[in-house]
Amino acid sequence: MTVLPAADAPIPIFTTLKEVYGSLATAAKHAERWDQLVREFETKFGHKPTYVARAPGRVNLIGEHIDYADFGVLPAAIEHDILIACAPRPASTVAAHPDGHAPGSVVAENLHTRYTRQVFMPTRRHTLGDDVPLDAVRVAPWHLDIDKSELRWESYVKAGYYGVLNHFFSPSSVSSVPVPVDILVTGNVPPGSGLSSSAAMVVSSTLAFLAANGIFDGEKAPTKPTKGELVNIAMENERRVGVNSGGMDQSASVIALPGSALYVSFVPSLHAEPIGLPRDAVFVCANSLVVSNKAESAKHQYNLRVAETLAAARLLSHRLNLQVDSTDGDNTKRRLVTLREVLARKSGFYQDEQDAQLEDLGQLRKGLVDVLGIAMDYLLPEFGNRTDISLDEMINKSGMDEAEFREVYLSGVDAETTKFELYLRAQHVLEEALKVLKFREVCLAGGGNEESKLQTLGKLMNDSHDSCHRQFDCSHPKVNDLVRVARSFREVETGRGKGRIYGSRMTGAGWGGCTVSLVHREDVEAFIKHVKKKYASYEGMSEEDLASCVFATEPGMGACVYKFTN
Ligand code: GLA
Repeated sequence: MTVLPAADAPIPIFTTLKEVYGSLATAAKHAERWDQLVREFETKFGHKPTYVARAPGRVNLIGEHIDYADFGVLPAAIEHDILIACAPRPASTVAAHPDGHAPGSVVAENLHTRYTRQVFMPTRRHTLGDDVPLDAVRVAPWHLDIDKSELRWESYVKAGYYGVLNHFFSPSSVSSVPVPVDILVTGNVPPGSGLSSSAAMVVSSTLAFLAANGIFDGEKAPTKPTKGELVNIAMENERRVGVNSGGMDQSASVIALPGSALYVSFVPSLHAEPIGLPRDAVFVCANSLVVSNKAESAKHQYNLRVAETLAAARLLSHRLNLQVDSTDGDNTKRRLVTLREVLARKSGFYQDEQDAQLEDLGQLRKGLVDVLGIAMDYLLPEFGNRTDISLDEMINKSGMDEAEFREVYLSGVDAETTKFELYLRAQHVLEEALKVLKFREVCLAGGGNEESKLQTLGKLMNDSHDSCHRQFDCSHPKVNDLVRVARSFREVETGRGKGRIYGSRMTGAGWGGCTVSLVHREDVEAFIKHVKKKYASYEGMSEEDLASCVFATEPGMGACVYKFTN
């Protein structure tokens, strides 16, 4: 097994499309989109782009809603991507724009006609009042207005820009300022479909502003981030649109390599390992057409699940008497604890390099089984399958007082509810983490019977879906219908026997979006035809639209910057 320090690699700067997509054939499919982007950029801005930043969407094969509990996940990048053409605004065109000369001002256009031109610029906010001269105080961080209650396309562009401003244009200096930038965005990752359009937007925006500010060139190049650093910046950036997401989407979008899925783990630090897939395995995505924008519904759905799993971890750690908080004299400093930390502490593996030993997957598995048992012994009799646990009840059993609990658990995670579920959420997370380990192991096992490998992977995917639906309550009736349609392919006569579908599940945050199905390479065409015909919401759609709803995907290349050489 080769473990590449994939997260430590530099962000690639390419000058050909073949490098960007990892193969000539894939590059050829996208060439016209790139040409159009470059042509339109010149028409709209009157000058040529200097770079295109590219970030792909991802499909998660297995490991849903466990990255924010710090457990490893197994996604792959897809071919669909967001492209942002960009260039510093040349002095000759500055006069044509209001505030065109202002440091860091942005004119943002989108090729999609639904999205209108946006002009914005960052400001530096300090808290001492406007009459205090900027150079008399430590200059405050850069600020951009993002209205979380009304997210718009440019909110994601701004979210990406935020990190660039505050990581690369130091708040403590008044001299280092960003240049005015023109950008043009296009993309084919369907929004709200569980294929991570938001991470692709934020990653590509981060890259575009880095590139336009010369961070990949000349004397600034030494400050350029590694892939791992870009993931961390992009995660931080995405929280600016109000989602407490884990790091799976950004890792897949940034670190993925063509031809393999990625096992991404987060503790003791971000680590990504390319995982080869069985030769005959093809993953097919199908869009349920139920749009679920995780940022818009975060308070009641995504962030609530983050709060529930964190609360379950806190209650377990209290019950197990684990020392998770630091003390300073008589003061106890409370902090967030993840389910993985509970496991690490319980197994005696917590902290720094010791924790890395848990990545000896045998240990991790054993620890997971133990903690699952403890969760069942304690959370199950205490709360059972109740979905109406009140905040008071939870606080009572957390070992914390109300003010502390609210501060640590509810102020950092933007969730709104009066009712929580704990046992089923924790059970899902711990069992799903075990499924990921098994999936990874099957993929890595040399030799063996190909058909039985595919069957094992498919069963893990089916079980994962059922757990997302029943225990984590993050599916949607239509997504469940689509999964049923996919699984029913096993009744279809293909001419080579019954249809070889091994497993099907929702992918991504859920509450709508796409499914991913594992299908035998030889049966992919028949499978796609079957799903197009049988899923009720596809009725009456044109072949062209259907083609963008159901498609086979090979693991693709991660994010990069394309540099124009003339
Ligand atoms: C979203 C988040 C990810 C992950 C998935 C669910 O895509 O951005 O971090 O939590 O949901 O697995």
